Amino acid sequence: MPTFTNDEATEYDSRITRLVPGYDLLHSTTAAQLKATLGDHAHILIVGSGTGKEIAQLATLNPTWRFTAQDISIDMLNIGQQRFADMGISERVTIHVGDVATLTDPVDAAICLLVLHFLADNGDKKTMLKAISKQLKPQGQLYLGDLMRPETTFERDAQFILCQQLGLTEVGIERMKHNFEHEFFALDRMRLADLLNESGFNTAKLYFKALSFSGHVIQKR
Ligand SMILES: C[S@@+](CC[C@H](N)C(=O)[O-])C[C@H]1O[C@@H](n2cnc3c(N)ncnc32)[C@H](O)[C@@H]1O
Repeated sequence: MPTFTNDEATEYDSRITRLVPGYDLLHSTTAAQLKATLGDHAHILIVGSGTGKEIAQLATLNPTWRFTAQDISIDMLNIGQQRFADMGISERVTIHVGDVATLTDPVDAAICLLVLHFLADNGDKKTMLKAISKQLKPQGQLYLGDLMRPETTFERDAQFILCQQLGLTEVGIERMKHNFEHEFFALDRMRLADLLNESGFNTAKLYFKALSFSGHVIQKR
């Protein structure tokens, strides 16, 4: 997994839109569903909140929502914290450095975008999903965005072509090919369904797809 520290944190916001086709759309389609489903006093957990993209967007959609920003990278969270201060929304955000499992305050919805694919399917993914399920109030929704296994033999190649069109250099493409092999643990649809079932969730509903990047909304059982 990338470390998401030092340069990997400071350069994150300028690089991510070249690495994830549809990055902004994934976030705005997620935010719109939260707006459509949650009341004014909702508390939303953002797992792997990074530099704060989700919270910055959601805070402007509803002025009374509260957030927990969870991550294991202090460098990413520090950038997010500065962003929240600049926006004047710090008092609505609780920052949590460390595991989801150590959180205690129940939440109305959870978002986990571009995080779970970095965890190995050796129990780590399931541990995180179970911890999220435990945090959610009954019938709460999880919005999960991840790199999935390719569904055709040409999906990955198309993804590299698209990233090049988005401005990724040749070196960046080579690094991405290497990372997809060695640093991502992409699931196929069947395995995702099994893991969700074992972690206390209902069937996933697909709401976003840009080649291998997929967004699913899943209700706690
Ligand atoms: C690709 S970034 C995504 C950030 C943000 N969600 C976004 O969409 O821009 C992945 C983030 O997940 C965090 N991360 C990795 N493993 C994690 C874990 N086990 N728990 C929480 N965050 C984790 C990284 O530190 C990083 O900030």
